[in-house]
Amino acid sequence: MSLLIRQGEIVTESERYVADIFCEGETITRIDKNIPSTAGIEVIEAEGKYVFPGFIDPHVHIYLPFMGTFAKDTHATASQAALIGGTTTFIEMICPNRSDRPLEAFELWLGKAQGKSACDFSFHMGVTRYDAGAESDFRDIVQRGVASFKVFLAYKGALGVTDEELYKTLSLAKQLGVITTAHCENADLISALQQKLLAEGKTEPKYHYWSRPPFVEAEGVHHLLAFAGATGAHVYIVHTSCEGALNMAIAGARRGLQVWVETLIQYLLCDQTDAEKPDFEGAKFVMSPPLRSKHNQDVLWDGLLSGTIATLGSDHAPFDFKDQKEMGRSDFTKIPNGIPALEDRVNLFFTYGVQKGRIDLHRFVNAASTQAAKLFGLFPRKGAIQIGSDADLVIYDPTYRGKISAKTHHMNLDYNAFEGMELEGRPHIVTVRGKIAVRDGQFVGDPSRGKFLQREPGHF
Ligand code: URP
Ligand code: ZN
Ligand code: ZN
Repeated sequence: MSLLIRQGEIVTESERYVADIFCEGETITRIDKNIPSTAGIEVIEAEGKYVFPGFIDPHVHIYLPFMGTFAKDTHATASQAALIGGTTTFIEMICPNRSDRPLEAFELWLGKAQGKSACDFSFHMGVTRYDAGAESDFRDIVQRGVASFKVFLAYKGALGVTDEELYKTLSLAKQLGVITTAHCENADLISALQQKLLAEGKTEPKYHYWSRPPFVEAEGVHHLLAFAGATGAHVYIVHTSCEGALNMAIAGARRGLQVWVETLIQYLLCDQTDAEKPDFEGAKFVMSPPLRSKHNQDVLWDGLLSGTIATLGSDHAPFDFKDQKEMGRSDFTKIPNGIPALEDRVNLFFTYGVQKGRIDLHRFVNAASTQAAKLFGLFPRKGAIQIGSDADLVIYDPTYRGKISAKTHHMNLDYNAFEGMELEGRPHIVTVRGKIAVRDGQFVGDPSRGKFLQREPGHF
């Protein structure tokens, strides 16, 4: 059935106006002042609501074997939670073990998502080993539509790469025209600091921060950028948490490097004191890089406003408090890292960014949707409200008032790091390629509608 969205206030990264949107099949086919409705068309009255392009989360983990356990969500639970929160596309990290064959990992992750995701999805291919066989697989995987790599400078001995592997990965990325996303923390420094802290009997969650202070992250960015300079590769720094790391990236961009920065909603709204909560409560807030001191939040908000930070992701990595975070009760290095935020990213960004006057509506749309579409080869199919774009639309109610709670969220997880935080806005209706998937906090769509989005290399 065709959809007519009437009288909403359309907001994109650069425009804001009231109009009707007509969607035929999966696509936006008309945008005009007064489009007449005819029989057989579903009409959505959107007066008083914003109409945003579907939001894109450029950094999620769903199937994730990590630190001796597995992330909790399935593609069914995660994709429906994403849609309820307004995210219509996510890009998941394929994170194979060092000994796994990359092509098999790609097939495994694709098999987990295909037919089980309610929203559209793509992948970043994790490079966790580089040799001739792996290189040949990476070439095939790019051909199959995965036009970005992911490298970890942290997690030595597990997901992390050596400098030789990093150099080869970036050289291949440059040759193929794909962007490389990177977790930037110096693994050797982390390991030395972890050993020192544990030897001093400092085992509580709060010491996670002290094993990865800001200079560890800034050095990781500096390190990556040296290799980006040597190879000419395009790089994207994931989950940037602090001023030192951001300044390092800005300096690189000023030197002419092709570098983009992502931050996360967690770093904007939570801080180091959360991870210092007593009775092991701080474990809920253990992630890497760690939550930082509060002054960094202003720096990150300013970066989002000015555009030195390109995107806002969730780095969704769901581990239960009771059974999984618990694994590190007597040793912070064993707490599975991650703070899930896939469902809440957009509503929190709108509430604490737009509603509190920290960011304007256009930067909001750009950072939470359009910029990711552009960087990762999805634009203008995604991230836009244009004729010919996919009809992924978020009809957003800025008058909604509510509170976040693990009791009512849809992620498969026993806690929510944003528990009790007020929301001032949420999606009223969310569409996935022209079909309604969400109405007022309820998933009402087709649970297997999500498509694997193949992306072309060389779009920049
Ligand atoms: O702590 C985090 N960020 N967990 C997920 C894995 C990663 O490093 O992105
Ligand atoms: Zn990471
Ligand atoms: Zn991540």
